Order: sequence, then C-alpha cells, then structure tokens
Amino acid sequence: MDSLHIDGVTVRAGEHTLLDDLRLVVHPGELCALLGPSGAGKSTLMKAVLGVRKPASGRVRLGERPMTEAGPIGYVPQDDALHRVLTVEKALDYSAQLRLPSLSAEARHARITDVLTRVDLVQRRSVRVGRLSGGQRKRVSVAMELLTAPPVLVLDEPTSGLDPGMERRTMALFADLASEGRIVIVSTHAMASIQRCQVVVVLVAGKLAYAGPPAGCPEWFEALDMNGIFPAIAKHAPIVWAKKWTAAPASRTALTRPAPRLQPSGAASAPPPSTAAPAPSEPAPSEPAPSASPADRRRTAEAELAALKAKMGRPS
Ligand SMILES: Nc1ncnc2c1ncn2[C@@H]1O[C@H](COP(=O)(O)OP(=O)(O)OP(=O)(O)O)[C@@H](O)[C@H]1O
Ligand SMILES: [Mg+2]
Repeated sequence: MDSLHIDGVTVRAGEHTLLDDLRLVVHPGELCALLGPSGAGKSTLMKAVLGVRKPASGRVRLGERPMTEAGPIGYVPQDDALHRVLTVEKALDYSAQLRLPSLSAEARHARITDVLTRVDLVQRRSVRVGRLSGGQRKRVSVAMELLTAPPVLVLDEPTSGLDPGMERRTMALFADLASEGRIVIVSTHAMASIQRCQVVVVLVAGKLAYAGPPAGCPEWFEALDMNGIFPAIAKHAPIVWAKKWTAAPASRTALTRPAPRLQPSGAASAPPPSTAAPAPSEPAPSEPAPSASPADRRRTAEAELAALKAKMGRPS
C-alpha cells in the first residue's frame, strides 16, 4: 500500500488562499486527526485529498499515482447522506449495486455482511435507517464506504454530535480500520480520543502549524494538554505558528518518518489494535408512529433510490 503525499498544496478561492503550501505525508496504518479552529481549512484539505478541490499549485498523490487514478476513496461527509426510509441492508445494497455493478446478488449480500460485521451492525441490518441512533447511522455511512475496500478513508467530523461514549467507540473503530493497513483521516474538534491517532495535523488559517504525534502537540503550542491548544494558538497570529513550524526540524521529520510496519495480515504492528469494543446494542431511539401507507412508503423509497443514484454521481 502506498502512502498519501500532499506536496506543497495551495488552494485558492478568488483572492483568498484557503490552503497555503501544505506538505504532509500519511502512511498506511495511520489514523490522522485533522485539527484546527473553525475555518482553518480542514474540509478544504479533505476535498483536495478527494480530488474535488483542484489545487492552484502542488499535488496530492498516493505513492506515485495522482489521486484521480488511485481508485475509490472512502468519504463520509459531516452530514450523513443516508436515506432514512430504507433498511440498513437496502441502503447498502443499492449503494453496492451502483458502486460494484459486476457483483452478483449473492456476492453483494456477502460483502454487506462483511462491512456490517466490521462496524458491528449485523444485528441491525433489517432496521430502517431512521430508527438508528446517530452513532449507528455514522457507522452505516462508514460501512457504505467500506464496500469498495478503499485504501484511504476520509471522514469529516464524524464524531460531532455523538455522546462521549459513542465518540470513544467510533474513534476506536477508526483506529482499528487504520491498523489494518488503511490511511484514515478524520477531522475533529474532540480531544478525548486523540491519543489513538498516530498523527495529529493542526491547521491555522490554511497554514500547517504542527504535524506529529499527539504527545508532542500540547508542548509545541505551549499548552498544558490537548484541550488547551486552541486557546494557546489564539495567542499568536497564524503566520507566527506557520513560521515556527517551517523552521523546526520536526517539519522535516514529519515528511521522512518511517511508515508503521504492517503485519502480514495487513495489521499495523504499532500501535496495537484497539481493544475497545464497539457499541453492540444501544437502544434504538423510539420512532414516531409511521403515518405513511405501505404504498406511500414504497413511493418514498423509490424517490430515495433516485436521490441516492444522484448522490453517487458525485465525484468520489
Ligand atoms: N468555495 C469557497 N469560496 C471561498 N471561500 C471558501 C470556499 N470554501 C471554503 N471557503 C473558506 O475557506 C476557509 C476554510 O473553510 P473550511 O470549510 O475548509 O474550514 P474548516 O476548517 O473545515 O472549518 P469548520 O471547522 O468550521 O468545518 C473558510 O474561511 C471558508 O469560508
Ligand atoms: Mg469543516
């Protein structure tokens, strides 16, 4: 598996520079957290990685291949785009039909079982998406992206709105997915599970201010702990942090550090796989009494499918 390289990427919108000459490497087996104040450029960087935001200069590549030739990249946007009237199984099956048209119905069923097992939702496969909790829905979105077995998963604030327990379990899932040899990039404002990440990237006003292990991050920003880094960042102008980073030997180390060794099975040797169990059975939120007739529901489902197809037309 190839590493993800962000080579001097600058993204502009009119006269505004949204990302300024970013240089980063993320290796297979690494969970990378993207941090930064609101408006720092986290979502813009994710879109540049996905290839939907064209850089004014620089490039994003997987090994030597440009991202456009790197095959499917998994992307979970901040707002889940799931269709609530469908069951989990149907939602995944429609997605599999669109993304993997050559698979037989039997092979699709097996693939869906695999990805639901991965996110610990097999027991919920016949439940309608609208009856799932927020954390379960997020895991369905992740399962949908896993259908095509992408080497890179990009998740934009996947834990926002989740309670602390669900946030921990969701981050544990991402750490496990990374440890199996994937590149997993997660933007987040939550610090509770940040130690699970191998790499923390901090953006400030579109500039790189830190890229390295979470343990070194508070000291770099002269903060006591991770919760203190945003107030600490606000004490200086973004350019001050960017210049400090560019001048530091750590900015070179971040680009030349070795990739984690992957086990023959694909699992990274360090850090060890998470031992935290995903949430098996939080109660489903009570659902309002269904008011639609079966025929209405079928029509809605058809509309949902059309919308899903339209969504799949997006660049990915
Ligand atoms: N198409 C665009 N045209 C002009 N400015 C844009 C465009 N897209 C984003 N921006 C600006 O770029 C900056 C970075 O936006 P981005 O969405 O990447 O931030 P973010 O770090 O993801 O913030 P948040 O934490 O709030 O999600 C913001 O100031 C935003 O207003
Ligand atoms: Mg964002």
